[in-house]
Amino acid sequence: MLGSISVSFQVRPMITIVILFVTLACMVPLVAAQQEAPVSDATDACLICHASVTPGIVADWQRSRHSSVTPQQAVQREQLYRRVSAMEIPDSLATVVVGCAECHMMNADTHEDTFDHSDYPVHTVVTPADCNTCHPDERAQYSMNLMSHAHVNLVENPTYEMLIRSINGVMSWTGDSLVQHGTDSLSDDQSCLFCHGTNVTVAGLVERETDFGTMAFPDLTGWPNRGVGRLNPDGSMGACTPCHPRHEFAIEVARQPYTCSECHKGPDVPAYKIYSVSKHGNIFSSQKSTYTMDTIPWTIGQDFNAPTCAVCHISLVEDTEGEIVARRTHQMNDRLYTRLFGLPYAHPHPRSPNTTGITSADGLHLPTNLDGTPVSDALIDEETQAERKATMQQVCKTCHSDQWVTKHFEVLDAVVSATNKRTLSATQILQTAWSEGVVDGPSSGDSPFNDGLEKLWVEQWLFYANSVRLSAAMAGADYGVFENGRWHLAHNLQDMYDRLRLLTSMNR
Ligand code: HEC
Ligand code: HEC
Ligand code: HEC
Ligand code: HEC
Ligand code: HEC
Ligand code: HEC
Ligand code: HEC
Ligand code: HEC
Repeated sequence: MLGSISVSFQVRPMITIVILFVTLACMVPLVAAQQEAPVSDATDACLICHASVTPGIVADWQRSRHSSVTPQQAVQREQLYRRVSAMEIPDSLATVVVGCAECHMMNADTHEDTFDHSDYPVHTVVTPADCNTCHPDERAQYSMNLMSHAHVNLVENPTYEMLIRSINGVMSWTGDSLVQHGTDSLSDDQSCLFCHGTNVTVAGLVERETDFGTMAFPDLTGWPNRGVGRLNPDGSMGACTPCHPRHEFAIEVARQPYTCSECHKGPDVPAYKIYSVSKHGNIFSSQKSTYTMDTIPWTIGQDFNAPTCAVCHISLVEDTEGEIVARRTHQMNDRLYTRLFGLPYAHPHPRSPNTTGITSADGLHLPTNLDGTPVSDALIDEETQAERKATMQQVCKTCHSDQWVTKHFEVLDAVVSATNKRTLSATQILQTAWSEGVVDGPSSGDSPFNDGLEKLWVEQWLFYANSVRLSAAMAGADYGVFENGRWHLAHNLQDMYDRLRLLTSMNR
């Protein structure tokens, strides 16, 4: 079976050329005859038009495994080598390859964006609920990942709502003061929700002129978008395409650090930058041309010699003896014991991927209290922390000694504690300003993010403390010191102190 697949890979470029040629010559019925893998009648119809309407999409799909392997063939593979986790596939889908119609007509009834397209009930936005038919494990795990909740976690949390407004809202100058206005949905979609995911809704149908005459399409708002926690028109949450770009859905892409760099690069979330200056990132950059990126399981030492993001956080990896080192996880937090991304302090990971229900003692919707203590009820216990730490360390120990790994994590834990202390000092300065009445705080119903001193406070944890911790976790020291690291923690704290003194002296 594997043999026949590799044959089909070799002939596919030729097929693409043949298809384009054939379409141009208007001899469209030959398209199906040239596909050696069984294609459904519906997909055949899509291909006939789309080979000329969207040739880029058709070519991408033809390079994908979806175009050459039927679900029935896929489920017969040995467990460890399976790329499809469903135990059973509906008959209508089992013996044809996964074509345009199989994805874009899946669960048609549940999709508000379903439209009549040449007599086929097609929807534009293919969602995790659609992938679920064949990939239920990945979908179920991903729904336990913070990422799949990234939209709701942000917009349904009243505290973060204030943060969004303080960043995206337009300010106007009245002559003696600045007035903060609300945000507009286009700015939010292009800003926070670009990564966190938009709310994709259907405003109705629009007609467009096409090469095939006038056709009607759904009028989508909040689209295009590939944010990780997107709300979809079938009521599902999340998107698989941030890491599996359509229509090739190649595992090689998901395993590359560049895929994650798109969202994990800013001063608040600098994981990619840290990785790229780490020894791991350095070895990857120098030797990646020798890596094998598409094998399953992925063998440490044989397929690669330094980890990418996927190796440490997601992948099914085995050692050269064939022993499983870590199981694949789309949940990802099952290898994370501490949430380094401090809000405002680093803390044990949240129990639920939906963080909107968390309320701190200060009445804010944050996982830690302003005095630095965690909101423990909402966070994992020490035992779970220890299990998750051990899972992550298992990956390290294939390439490193026990001592190397243990010491690395001792340093990380010390850095977590030290950076939390530096956030505490900043918070105490701010609380002094609030209690002295020189800055309006939450107790007077005001946003904790909109004054100058408050913005310095946000930078203390969101940029600098997070950066130092992430750089300790992933061994990229440059981002922990002068580049958004400890220098800035010290400098910023001094600035906060000076500003407090100025404000209080003006008040006297
Ligand atoms: C008669 C030709 C024809 C057939 C058959 C056809 N399409 Fe299309 N399709 C088009 C054209 C033309 C467009 C518009 C492209 C554009 O907007 O530039 C389109 C657009 C689309 C879109 C994008 C819609 C949007 O919201 O912008 C999707 C998705 C799609 N087709 C999927 C399919 C699928 C799946 C099938 C098979 C079940 C199919 N098409 C069959 C011609 C066709
Ligand atoms: C944050 C990035 C990310 C997201 C989002 C994501 N995946 Fe993945 N996925 C990966 C990585 C990395 C791998 C490679 C895992 C490995 O090496 O074992 C992968 C592998 C896979 C595989 C291949 C399994 C195999 O054995 O070849 C499937 C199927 C899959 N993902 C489905 C999904 C589905 C369905 C979704 C949406 C519910 C999704 N993924 C969302 C990163 C992601
Ligand atoms: C494995 C499932 C899958 C298959 C197979 C598939 N698609 Fe898609 N398609 C998607 C996903 C996922 C998106 C992204 C939708 C979104 O933005 O949420 C998409 C988006 C699209 C779009 C809109 C994107 C754009 O850039 O305008 C078109 C058009 C489209 N597909 C056509 C096709 C055609 C034609 C085929 C067959 C050659 C096909 N699709 C096969 C999953 C699939
Ligand atoms: C009707 C079943 C079906 C649906 C629906 C489906 N897939 Fe697949 N998927 C497959 C099959 C079959 C393979 C190839 C398995 C093999 O080669 O053994 C595959 C392979 C994959 C792979 C592995 C690719 C690689 O290079 O190893 C990824 C990633 C993937 N699918 C993601 C998705 C995503 C994301 C969606 C939804 C947008 C989706 N699939 C929808 C059946 C499906
Ligand atoms: C470039 C991508 C990107 C953009 C744009 C973005 N974020 Fe994020 N955001 C992330 C990532 C990545 C994380 C997770 C970081 C981690 O866990 O280490 C995150 C996490 C968060 C969290 C934590 C949510 C929780 O409860 O788990 C908040 C709050 C947040 N971001 C606020 C914002 C706000 C407000 C904006 C817009 C002003 C924004 N983000 C824009 C990528 C982004
Ligand atoms: C389209 C943007 C996007 C891409 C691409 C992306 N992420 Fe994320 N990631 C996010 C956002 C947003 C969050 C925060 C969600 C929240 O806190 O609500 C996040 C959270 C995380 C977390 C924290 C999860 C947790 O439970 O604490 C990890 C780890 C992570 N991402 C790793 C990765 C890796 C590895 C890749 C690449 C394979 C990747 N991400 C690709 C946007 C993205
Ligand atoms: C050598 C293994 C390794 C590599 C490679 C790696 N990470 Fe990490 N990552 C870790 C460890 C260890 C932690 C800290 C775990 C914890 O705190 O529980 C971490 C933490 C994170 C977090 C913080 C989640 C939180 O708690 O806020 C994000 C996001 C993340 N990594 C993303 C990435 C991305 C993106 C890449 C690639 C550019 C990457 N990682 C590469 C090991 C790795
Ligand atoms: C695939 C093998 C591999 C895996 C997995 C791996 N590393 Fe590494 N790591 C290396 C190699 C090779 C080096 C370079 C060692 C040298 O230059 O002496 C390295 C270097 C390091 C360094 C030294 C950084 C420096 O600049 O001095 C640290 C710290 C480190 N790794 C920690 C970890 C941790 C923690 C994990 C697991 C979360 C891990 N590694 C997983 C291969 C790996």
